Amino acid sequence: MIHTVSWGLAIAFGSVLWVELVRDIYHALSHVWQPLYRLHSWHHRVFRPDLSVANETIYRQAHWYNDVPEALLMLLFSFLGYGVVYTWDLSPQWTAFAGTLYTVGFLATAIARGLGIPYVDEITDITHRQGEFTSLPAKLFVNRTYHWRHHFDNQNAYFCGTLTLIDKIMGTALSLKGKKIAVTGASGTLGIALLKQLHLRGAKVTALSSSSNTIDLDLEGEKLPIKTISWQTGKEAELATVLEKIDILIINHGINVHQARNKDAVSKSYEINTFSAWKLMETFFTTVKTNKDIATKEVWINTSEAEVNPAFSPLYELSKRTLGDLVSLRRLDAPCVVRKLILGPFKSNLNPVGVMSAEWVAKQIVNLAQRDIRNIIVTINPITLLLFPIKELLVASYFKLFTRKK
Ligand SMILES: NC(=O)c1ccc[n+]([C@@H]2O[C@H](COP(=O)([O-])OP(=O)(O)OC[C@H]3O[C@@H](n4cnc5c(N)ncnc54)[C@H](OP(=O)(O)O)[C@@H]3O)[C@@H](O)[C@H]2O)c1
Repeated sequence: MIHTVSWGLAIAFGSVLWVELVRDIYHALSHVWQPLYRLHSWHHRVFRPDLSVANETIYRQAHWYNDVPEALLMLLFSFLGYGVVYTWDLSPQWTAFAGTLYTVGFLATAIARGLGIPYVDEITDITHRQGEFTSLPAKLFVNRTYHWRHHFDNQNAYFCGTLTLIDKIMGTALSLKGKKIAVTGASGTLGIALLKQLHLRGAKVTALSSSSNTIDLDLEGEKLPIKTISWQTGKEAELATVLEKIDILIINHGINVHQARNKDAVSKSYEINTFSAWKLMETFFTTVKTNKDIATKEVWINTSEAEVNPAFSPLYELSKRTLGDLVSLRRLDAPCVVRKLILGPFKSNLNPVGVMSAEWVAKQIVNLAQRDIRNIIVTINPITLLLFPIKELLVASYFKLFTRKK
């Protein structure tokens, strides 16, 4: 009996997941195949940036041209799910119709919206409701903040309608095209590699450097000078005006005092690795003001796998662990997305014996960010892959339990 119920639930869940995937793939195809885009473009004509409807007639038309065909395709493919269950002789077979029923619900509401039946849009078109964003772009299920970006950040990304899975697979869960991205520690090995990688993905990059030299990117032998802004630790608040215009801030600067344990080494490690990073993050938070900021602003913080593993440099570990914990604490209430970068050893000025290359690490960081991974782990150490998620879950839960927002 329990066996039958479990199979029934699994088949029903699978059939719903299947039609959701069909919907998102159809949506993504609509942006690359002109005949489908002609239908889909109606949907993009409907809304203003505050999600108010620009024209009631177009709103209704958009449902006939976009939502109804989409639901009909899902309906057709839902029978394919039933075919698979039948072919593989899985049972109970009737549960495979869950996807069909689910789709019929969507089809009915799309028709109702097309007919202009009062209140149906308010109850069913929930990712297009107006009002202040009350949550960050969600990780697993599409919310208003997530979907807003498909209309007003980049129409060639954020395709998902309910689950974010297809965007994660395609790397369209975060668009970097045209994003203004600033990186600290910009003249360092990873700083340069990140700036180059982000530039190659269409971002407008700014270098934040404690030195006064202008930073150049080496693009296949050609030098591209990039906007470089000089800053100093202890003067983080002075960057507020610069950060107002930045979409993504990557806090990447850091030092390693290696074997030192004197007063100056303690002070420098905490000042540079911990408190200046924390203060920059807080300054950046103050620049998140509008719905657009909530949807598009982000801060990425390079804490290192020293959060959970030895780096054979105690002050480096202590200062990076404190930073990691402060980020876990403060991101409970963060006004924008906060990503941690948990990196293993790569060859750089800071770590001349690192085994990975900074270029490869930078590429992986950007690939994972575009899949909306919030804790980006790039390492050759399997222990970090295992320990970090457990540590982060426990620490964040502990902080949540024993602290209050105000
Ligand atoms: N290499 C590794 O194995 C490894 C592993 C995990 C994590 N990390 C982290 O990755 C980040 C980048 O390190 P990296 O390996 O690329 O080292 P890096 O080449 O030494 O770059 C670090 C950069 O930090 C900036 N910096 C140094 N002292 C500073 C100060 N007093 N104030 C402000 N900025 C200062 C400098 O850039 P500007 O002169 O442009 O300011 C420097 O080039 C660091 O946070 C590091 O802890 C490294």
